[in-house]
Amino acid sequence: MADSFSPATDTETGFWSDVSDHVMRYGPQFERRVIERAEGSHVYDTAGTAILDFTSGQMSALLGHSHPEIVRTVREQIGRLDHLFSGMLSRPVVDLCSCLGSLVPGLEKVLLLSTGAESNEAAIRLAKLVTGKHEIVAFSRSWHGMTGAAASATYSNARRGYGPAEVGSFAIPAPNAYRPRFTHADGSLDWKSELDDAFALIDSQSTGNLAAFIAEPILSSGGIIELPEGYLAALREKCDERGMLLILDEAQTGIGRTGHMFAFQRDGVTPDILTLSKTLGAGLPLAAVLTSRELEEKAHDLGFVFLTTHVSDPLPAAVGLTVLDVVEKDGLIARARQAGKRLRSGLEALQQRFECIGDVRGRGLLLGIDIVTDRASRKPDLDMGDRIGAEAMKRGLSMNIVKLPAMGAVFRIAPPLTVSDADIDRGLEIMSEAIAAAGKG
Ligand SMILES: Cc1ncc(COP(=O)(O)O)c(C=O)c1O
Repeated sequence: MADSFSPATDTETGFWSDVSDHVMRYGPQFERRVIERAEGSHVYDTAGTAILDFTSGQMSALLGHSHPEIVRTVREQIGRLDHLFSGMLSRPVVDLCSCLGSLVPGLEKVLLLSTGAESNEAAIRLAKLVTGKHEIVAFSRSWHGMTGAAASATYSNARRGYGPAEVGSFAIPAPNAYRPRFTHADGSLDWKSELDDAFALIDSQSTGNLAAFIAEPILSSGGIIELPEGYLAALREKCDERGMLLILDEAQTGIGRTGHMFAFQRDGVTPDILTLSKTLGAGLPLAAVLTSRELEEKAHDLGFVFLTTHVSDPLPAAVGLTVLDVVEKDGLIARARQAGKRLRSGLEALQQRFECIGDVRGRGLLLGIDIVTDRASRKPDLDMGDRIGAEAMKRGLSMNIVKLPAMGAVFRIAPPLTVSDADIDRGLEIMSEAIAAAGKG
């Protein structure tokens, strides 16, 4: 392993000219280095430089990269049974449905799909069918995916220029303890008043067709906004009062990352529909929709259809089973809590040293640091955020920054649950050097 940073070589001229000639740009700026392989908490470029991956790929590689048991499962399963006609069932699929369906009472029925957007598409479709209504409410900093209904319920980004969202798409503000809109006398967030106010607005806009609320328990792409304790229960009540279903999207928070199997378990609230993706396949395309027997029965009676090419595919299902098995047998949920504590206290120590870290927040191994111009104004410092990200990458640490001009420059820090203490400490050390260097820039 090459420990020190070696700058991206541009000797791969053919590679970059092919990129420029043939790779469609889809949003992010491409990192100017060719990634050759990945293992555990690191990715490696062609120069052999080890880069600590503190975003677990796209917030998904829960077990680190190329976990030996995932590698074994994929190798074995692809040689036996990979993909099937959607009307055929296989052991890995039924086993994974059984495993997932026995985790939470009230969420026994499971549909296996490929991506997060797809799982939310199916959840929203299910909610519309069983309620006979069509209005969907989400948070104004949400991210639920890039396909029709999921994109209509995605408000943090990527809305402009694509024509009308689905009829009946509404948003309410997410409760933000660091930059509260409603406050108690002591300046702390008054989320109850904010929620009441938001639903009064929803009620005045609704045509009486509220089907569901879709929420992330921690809004990740929105800047690691945690729903305060009690909020989910209050949201559940608002939904119940209106005959709406509650859909929770645990693409990033599910399967142990926050120190619970599912983030909603901290709150003692069960959604009507739960969607899982990213972490469930630990980097491979696997998603699931979970709901109650009653809702599934009702949907079936109404002729529910969600037929995709890769629904109930055995290969990703076998991967999902291995992910659940490793999480359980290696005690990774407890590890997320423990490692999260270490990472958090390291970040808080950095906050003591650096004025630009306005806030440290999140849960378990899904943490965020909010970069500000100064503590008093809490004004997001987008340029500083960029500089820190670049300096960190130069030193061999990949951290993803969410830049929302209206809200913040927030680094999302979510290493694999298998990250070692030494790698956490190394990451913190690099962050410290990167912030110091960025401050001089
Ligand atoms: C909370 C959440 N839901 C859904 C999605 C969409 O998942 P996918 O990109 O797999 O469609 C994402 C992706 O970032 C996400 O963060």
